[in-house]
Amino acid sequence: MNWALLSLDGLFFSLRWFHIFFGVIWIGVLYYFNFIQGPFFAETDAPTKSNAIQKLVPRALWWFRWGAMGTFLTGLGMLGFMDSQYGHAYWGTGPGVLILIGASFATLMWANVWFVIWPAQKIVIASATAVAAGKPADPTAAARGARGGVASRTNVLFSVPMLFFMAAAKHLSLFTISPDKSLVPLVVVFGVIILGLEANALKGKTGPMTSVKGVVHCAFALAVVMYILSEVLTK
Ligand code: HEM
Repeated sequence: MNWALLSLDGLFFSLRWFHIFFGVIWIGVLYYFNFIQGPFFAETDAPTKSNAIQKLVPRALWWFRWGAMGTFLTGLGMLGFMDSQYGHAYWGTGPGVLILIGASFATLMWANVWFVIWPAQKIVIASATAVAAGKPADPTAAARGARGGVASRTNVLFSVPMLFFMAAAKHLSLFTISPDKSLVPLVVVFGVIILGLEANALKGKTGPMTSVKGVVHCAFALAVVMYILSEVLTK
């Protein structure tokens, strides 16, 4: 009997299935934080907010960060699998370039979760717990929470072009790269845009991404601009 799942191709499919599964968990909780919890915290009373920070937020953050880790590790696994199966030259083809753009966005998003948002939230949670126990608040908690907030908004901004490019790799099959075209301009332009936005996540402000409507508009606008640039710079 030839069981499709018990083949090399089936193994790759399993990796991809778990990748999407973890991705749904991660990005679902990201959207919950930004679209639902944030606006609720802005208008609820202080005791309710404090209670939620101590008992609800840690649970949501557990699914959030481990969802991110599962997505990242299965994504890396697929990159390694593709490299060994298709060869290094694959990364210069249309699908290879699209997946690398999506993976670059997603890797920065993963780093924002583990090295900016989660450390900041640990301080916010510890401070709320201390205050509830009658101890003084951590004076750095507000600033760290705000920095985590900018990184979280940036992840929403990145999520739309990230998913566009990642899903386009296999399904927007007409995307090709002219054989005589150097990929250097694409790498430079995309590098400047993506790293510039990441620098803003680490040092800047939310600006037009402050409201839910604002960040959703910015995210779709970024995806459209980057798609147009990807066509122009590869033809
Ligand atoms: C964290 C870093 C990530 C890396 C390194 C990564 C890498 C990859 C790779 C290598 C593929 C296979 C593409 C192909 O078969 O041609 C892929 C597909 C995909 N990824 Fe990611 N990914 C990451 C994050 C995410 C996130 C956050 C999501 C959000 C849900 C996501 C959703 C998808 C989807 C929907 C596919 C398409 C599967 C298909 O077309 O069959 N990925 N990713």
